[in-house]
Amino acid sequence: MKVDELSVPKRVKEVIKKSGIIELYPPQEEAISAGVLEGNNIVLASPTASGKTLVAELCALKHVLERNGKVIYLTPLRALANEKYRELKKYSTILKPNGRRVQVGISTGDFDSSDPWLEKFDIIICTNEKADSLLRHRSKWIDEISLVVTDEVHLLNDSERGPTLEVVLARLMQANPEIQILALSATIRNVEEVADWLKAKYTATEWRPVKLNEGVLLDQEIQFKDGASMQIGKNSRNPALNLAIHIVKSGNQALIFASTRKNAVSLAKKVAAELDNVISKPIKRSLTQLATRVQAAGERTRISELLAELVKKGAAFHHAGLSGTHRRLLEDAFREGKIKILAATPTLAFGVNLPARMVIIHDYRRYEVGYGYYPIPVLEYKQMAGRAGRPRYDKAGEAILIAKTDDEQDYLMESYVLAKPERIWSKLAVERILRPHVLSTIAAQYATSEKNVYDFFGKTFYAYQYDPKAIKVVITRILKFLYDEQMIDSSGKELLATKFGRRVSELYIDPVSAVFLRDGLLNRAPTITDLSFLHLVAHTPDVYPKLRPYSSEVDELVLFVEQHREEFMFEPPRELDDPLEFEEFLGEAKLAWVMQSWIEEYTEDRMIERFRVQPGDLYRLTDSTKWLLYACHEMAVLFKQRDMVSKLNVLIERSTKGVKAELLPLVHLDGVGRARARILYNSGLKTISDLKRAPLSRLIELPLIGSRVAKRIKEQAGGFVKSEEWKKLDKEESPEQQSLAKYY
Ligand SMILES: Nc1ncnc2c1ncn2[C@@H]1O[C@H](COP(=O)(O)OP(=O)(O)OP(=O)(O)O)[C@@H](O)[C@H]1O
Ligand SMILES: [Mg+2]
Repeated sequence: MKVDELSVPKRVKEVIKKSGIIELYPPQEEAISAGVLEGNNIVLASPTASGKTLVAELCALKHVLERNGKVIYLTPLRALANEKYRELKKYSTILKPNGRRVQVGISTGDFDSSDPWLEKFDIIICTNEKADSLLRHRSKWIDEISLVVTDEVHLLNDSERGPTLEVVLARLMQANPEIQILALSATIRNVEEVADWLKAKYTATEWRPVKLNEGVLLDQEIQFKDGASMQIGKNSRNPALNLAIHIVKSGNQALIFASTRKNAVSLAKKVAAELDNVISKPIKRSLTQLATRVQAAGERTRISELLAELVKKGAAFHHAGLSGTHRRLLEDAFREGKIKILAATPTLAFGVNLPARMVIIHDYRRYEVGYGYYPIPVLEYKQMAGRAGRPRYDKAGEAILIAKTDDEQDYLMESYVLAKPERIWSKLAVERILRPHVLSTIAAQYATSEKNVYDFFGKTFYAYQYDPKAIKVVITRILKFLYDEQMIDSSGKELLATKFGRRVSELYIDPVSAVFLRDGLLNRAPTITDLSFLHLVAHTPDVYPKLRPYSSEVDELVLFVEQHREEFMFEPPRELDDPLEFEEFLGEAKLAWVMQSWIEEYTEDRMIERFRVQPGDLYRLTDSTKWLLYACHEMAVLFKQRDMVSKLNVLIERSTKGVKAELLPLVHLDGVGRARARILYNSGLKTISDLKRAPLSRLIELPLIGSRVAKRIKEQAGGFVKSEEWKKLDKEESPEQQSLAKYY
C-alpha cells in the first residue's frame, strides 16, 4: 500500500513523503486494514524498527484534523518522550480546519501540577508517570482526549512501572468510554489477552524491515538460527572481543550488552586496547575532538577521563552511572558512526532508538541482590537482539550470544534464539505498589465509595488476568491503612480523601512516605539541622536510588550515626535488636551524608571516590531528594510547622544546585553553575551588585569564564558592556569556557 492511498488528509501525506516514506511496511498495512483509522482499538505487536510510530502518527492526525480530537501519547521514558516529540513536531506545519497549526506539546516534568497550559496542544506527549499525575490533578483537558497511544505497552509486565501504566489506561477508559486506544508493543506471547482487556483487535507480526540473523558464538564459530555458520579471526582469548574486532574490521559497528556497569566498562577497555591499529587516521582525528567534548561536558571526574581515553580509540561504555550529557554525546557519536563499539548495560535496549549492525549479548545472566544469578527473560533478549540491523543502512543485522561450551551453545539456541517470548503478567497486586493508586482513586474522586474502589480495580489488567478476589484482599488492607492514617474519611455520605490525603495523592508520593514525613516533622529531633531533613527524606520508601553501605563503610557509618544521633527525627534502631533494620538505617544515613556532601560542594569526582556514587546516580538522587524535600515542605505547611518551612526552602535550592547557601544568589544567573559560582565568590565577587560593578576584563581573567559567558553574566547583573570594550575582549574560548550548561 502506498502512502498516497491512505485515507488521511493530503497535507499529512505530503509531510510523510517528504520524510522519505513512500510505501507502507506490512505491519503498518495490517493495522490500517484492522481499522485503526476508523477508530478501532488496536494492539499492534511487531518487532523493533517495524514502523509502529507511523501508525500512531497517522491515527493522531486523523483525530486532530478530521474529528476535532485531542491525542495523548504515552511513553515509558523521558528520553523516549523527547524522541517522539522531535518526530511528531514535523506535523506542526499543517493547518487545522480552524486555520490554526497543529500543536504538538510535551510534558514530563513537575508532578505536582495540572499543567493547564497543555490545553492548547492537540498532541501531548508524556511519560506514563506524568499522565498518572495529570489524572490525579484532574486536569480539565483530559476529558477532551479522544485518542490515547500507549507505546511499549509490554511494560505492563514490569514490576515497578507496569502498574502505573495499567492504572492510567484503566482510568482513561473509565473517564471516557468512547476513547480510542492504540497500543504499540514488542512481540509478546499473550497479545490477545492485552487486546481483550483493552477491548481491542490485535495485529501481531514477526516482520522486520531488516533481516535479523540470530546466532550463538562458540570459540571462533557462530552458529546461526537458519543453519548457516561463520568463522571469525582470533585476536585474543575472549571470543566476544574477537567478534567485536571482526565487525569493526569489516567496516561496521557493534553494540555489546553486558549485565553490569563494571562489565560494560571492562569490555570497553579491552576492545579499545585492540582497536588502536584498526581505525583509520581521519576517524581518529574526529574521535580526538569527541574526546575533548566528553571531557568538557560537565565536571571532570575519573569516569569522564576514562571515557575520553576510550573514545579516542573508538570504543565507549554506556550505563546509568554516566551523566545524561555524556550518554547523549555517546549515542549521537555512535549514530554518526564515530564510535565503533559501545558496551552498554541493558537499559539502553529499552531507551532511545540506537540500532547497530551487530548486537553482542555478552551476559545472558543477571545478578540481583537476594536472588543471585538468573537467566534473563526471552522478552528481554529479543529487545536487545532487535537493536541489530539499521534500517536504511543494512540489509541484515546479527544478534549473537556467547557460549563457553557445546552444551551451553545448545541451551542458548533453544532457550533464546529459537524461543518465543514469555507471556506478560500484571504486577499490580502488591501492597506497596497499589497503595498510592488506591489513595489517588479516592482523592481525585474517581471513586466515592468503597464499592466504587473495588469496581475500578476490577477493571484493571490484573483483575482481567487473575481472580479479582485476590486484589480485593490487598485493597481492603490498604483502605484500613488509609483510614488509620487519616488520609480518607467516610463519616459523611461519600468516601472522600481528607486534605492530607488529597495533598499526598497530588504530591505523587507513597502514603507511607507521607506518614514518615508527617511523623518526623511532628517528632522533631532534639537538634534540627539540614541533616535532619536529609535523613528524613532518605528514610522514605520513595527515595531513589537506594544506597547500600559497602562493608568497608560500616564502621565509619556507625560513627557518623553516633555523632549525629541528636539530629535524626527518628531514633536509630539498636543493632542487636534488629540487625537488618540497623543496616537499612545505615543505608539511609549514607544517603543523607551523600546529599549533605553534595550541598557542601564536594566535587563529583570526590563523590565517586568517597562514596562510590557516580554522576548519573547523583543526578537521580538529587532529583528524588529535591522532590521529597518539596513534599516535606508541603507537609510542614499543612501541619503548621512554620519554622521548618523557610529552612526547607533554602535546603531545596541548595540540593538542586549542590552549593552552600552563600552561593545561592550567584547560581540563579543563567550560565552560572556551582563551579563558576564558587570561582566568582572566591575572587571577591559575592553578590549581584559586585558583578554589576566589576569590569568585564576582571571576569574574563577567571578560570572557566570565557568572554561570552562573562558578557552574559554582566548583562544579567544589570551591568553595561560597551561595544568597543567587547570588541577588544571577545576572544577564542575553550569548550569549557563556552559552555552555558548548568553544571558550570
Ligand atoms: N513505511 C516505511 N518506509 C520506510 N521507512 C519507514 C517506514 N515506516 C517507518 N519507517 C522508519 O523506520 C524506522 C523505525 O520505525 P519506528 O521507530 O516506528 O519503529 P518501532 O516499530 O516503533 O520500533 P521500536 O519497537 O524499536 O520502538 C524509523 O526511522 C522510521 O522512519
Ligand atoms: Mg517505537
